[in-house]
This record gives sequence, structure tokens and C-alpha cells, in this order.
Amino acid sequence: MQLGRNEPCWCGSGRKYKACHLGFDERIEGFRAQGHKVPSHEIIKTKEQIEGIRESGKRNIAILDYVADHIKAGISTQEIDDWVVAKTKEFGGIAATLGYEGFPRSCCTSLNDQVCHGIPSEEDILQDGDIINVDCTTIYNGYYADSSRMFMIGDVDDKARKLVEDVKKSVQIGLDEVKPWRFLGDMGSAINEFCRSQGYTVVREIGGHGCGLDFHEEPWVSYVSKPGKEMLMVPGMCFTIEPMVNMGAQEIYEDADNGWTIYTEDGSLSAQWEVHLVVTEDGYEILSY
Ligand code: MF3
Ligand code: CO
Ligand code: CO
Repeated sequence: MQLGRNEPCWCGSGRKYKACHLGFDERIEGFRAQGHKVPSHEIIKTKEQIEGIRESGKRNIAILDYVADHIKAGISTQEIDDWVVAKTKEFGGIAATLGYEGFPRSCCTSLNDQVCHGIPSEEDILQDGDIINVDCTTIYNGYYADSSRMFMIGDVDDKARKLVEDVKKSVQIGLDEVKPWRFLGDMGSAINEFCRSQGYTVVREIGGHGCGLDFHEEPWVSYVSKPGKEMLMVPGMCFTIEPMVNMGAQEIYEDADNGWTIYTEDGSLSAQWEVHLVVTEDGYEILSY
């Protein structure tokens, strides 16, 4: 339904539509008319909502900081989950993953050739030379923050270390392309191009997502996209950049026993970093990482 010029703006500012987001909406409609995918109002966050997600992000960051300070060879991935449970509680939050579509733990711990959705377990003991992604999603005061980091355990060989560092670099290369009135494909293709230039492959089937009022919102965020394609980025959109990058082939498979964990088909190492951001007037702000 078309909002009248003198009605209160949809963004909750209390101002009249014509003095607030009317010009913004017209600009979006211009892109839609040219055939682009454009964001709906539901995924454009208000100032208050962004503040809520920012607060959740602070807790999400602190939980991952705690993991960073304590992770070491000899512990089980279940212990990481125990820390996440304890710290999330201490910070007044809720872990979004626990019970999410039946997921049994409060974070994901993806080791070596596990691409994502590794399930913390007493049986998986960190060994010298392992690389592991710890992915945490925190709900605080109803707002979601989702980020993940890689950790290198003890003495990691040069190729694995380079993979971990390059994937982090690729996320920054993607962030550099996040600007309002540009496209998600500008960001995704920059990540893919860099990763391929280093001899890696980027997983196609699993991507990032809008996030903030819910765990997984529109849009779907691919890293094997084309410049000028995919959804238009506008100020107030919150989403994750979380490329999964394989040392070998891009093919993956799902663990048939647990129905969750994704592995590289060829057994090669895989790394992932996840940043949660909001698009601003001149670029982006990191909400959790
Ligand atoms: N945190 C993951 C993401 O970045 C999703 C994990 S879903 C789970 O989107 F159920 F596996 F926990
Ligand atoms: Co995540
Ligand atoms: Co995510």
C-alpha cells in the first residue's frame, strides 16, 4: 500500500513520509524499474533496531573473545560449547542455534575438512595443527547477532595458515565493496575472484543472510555472484558475509548420520569467517565479528 506524503514514515522516526524516506523509496523504485532485486521495508532496520542488534553484537563478540582466549589443543569441542553456554548466560543472552531446526548445541564447531555446522562433541579433541571455525549466534533483548572466527591450534602448517588468513582477507575485500546503492554481487564476486586467484574454491550452496530481527532473513548472500547483480544494498540493511572456502574442490556433502555437518567432498581443508554488518550512508558498520 502506498503511504501518503503526510502520513508518518514507515521507519518509525515520527516524521512525515515526504520529509523522511519518500526520496529513499523513490530511489529504490528506480532500481526496481531497471529490473534489479531490491530490499523490502521489512529488512531495512530502524535506528532503534540497529542499536538493539549492535548491543547483541557486543555480547556475541565477547563470547568469541572468550573462546579465543581459552581454545587450545587437548580440549573437546563440547568444552567450547560449554563456554558459549556459560558466557551467553552471563551476558544475559540466548544462543540462537540451540534447538534451531533441531540443532543440538549452542554453537557450531567446524574442524578441518568440515565446512560448517560441525556439532560440538566430547569425542572431538583439538589436536596440534587443527584449524577450526567457531560460529556463535546470540539473541539479546530479542535481537540476533551472528558471527564466526577461525582458530589455529598450536603449530599449523603454512598452507593451512595461509588458507585461514586468506579467507579473512577475502572478507575484508568483500566489506570494501559494501556501499549503499551498489549490489550484493559486487561484494560476492570480489570475494570469489580473490579466493580463486589464490587457488581456492568457494562453496556455492551455502551463503550468508539477512540477520537481526530473526536468525535468517532476506536476502540470501552468495559469493559466487556477478558484479551489478543480486540485491541492491541500502542503508539500514543488516546481513552477514560468511564465505566457506575450500583448499580443494568446491563440492560438499552432508553428514548422513547427524543431518547437519557439511564436509568437503575431497577431504580438503575448509575455512570460514563470518561478519555481521549494517549498511550505512557511506559504507558499513561491523555489528559482530
Ligand atoms: N550460525 C550459522 C550461520 O552463520 C547457522 C548455524 S545454524 C545451526 O548462519 F543450526 F547449524 F546452528
Ligand atoms: Co553464523
Ligand atoms: Co550466518
